[in-house]
Amino acid sequence: MKPGSVDRSELPRNVTPVSLPATEVAGLPKRIPKSIVGWMYPFELLYLYQIAKMLAERGVEGDLLEVGSYKGLSASALGQAGKLTCVDTFDGGEGIVPGFGRAEFDQAMRTMDLHPRVLVGPSADILGNLVVWGERFRLVFVDASHEYANVKIDLALSWTLLSPGGFLVADDYVGFPDVTAACDESGYGFVKVEPRLSKMAVAHKTEEPI
Ligand SMILES: C[S@@+](CC[C@H](N)C(=O)[O-])C[C@H]1O[C@@H](n2cnc3c(N)ncnc32)[C@H](O)[C@@H]1O
Repeated sequence: MKPGSVDRSELPRNVTPVSLPATEVAGLPKRIPKSIVGWMYPFELLYLYQIAKMLAERGVEGDLLEVGSYKGLSASALGQAGKLTCVDTFDGGEGIVPGFGRAEFDQAMRTMDLHPRVLVGPSADILGNLVVWGERFRLVFVDASHEYANVKIDLALSWTLLSPGGFLVADDYVGFPDVTAACDESGYGFVKVEPRLSKMAVAHKTEEPI
């Protein structure tokens, strides 16, 4: 294994892919069935959905961007909150258990009757293109590579893509030292999201209170 890469077999048991009883995510308009799996806690799914809705209600411009979609669990929540763009290689990248592909993501989206825009490729390339195209998002959720150098690039490009007032959410801030370091060094002011219920951190692109 390359230095700094993530060995999923060593994750704490509560971070392995979970089957999600839909009833645990009260508050999502559409229930997420157990067949859609991923590395998200129920609280995190509800949090992503709710802040995406809240930002729209407050007039923060732009759609929703997810970097690292895997089999569509987080997209199943975010996609319910507005227009969503998903970025993934769909080959697992480094450190993710291989043996899945785009088909499982597509099946999840059919199950949920969601229709995100899907951009396939390395996040640095795709996010770079989105910057060049002048796109802006009110919420970016970063959960792709967990290697330090890649996370740094994902965060920097995502910050550029955020509208004023938008939120940048990084998954696995807790439990992945490379992710923690990249967030802490970014200067964006990441804070943990409810640590008893979540492994995510969030940064707000404004000094103004919301
Ligand atoms: C932790 S999983 C995402 C989990 C997902 N958010 C969920 O619902 O549980 C990480 C995903 O990022 C993708 N990935 C890893 N490195 C990548 C890279 N450099 N560019 C694009 N996607 C990448 C993998 O293919 C994998 O699907």
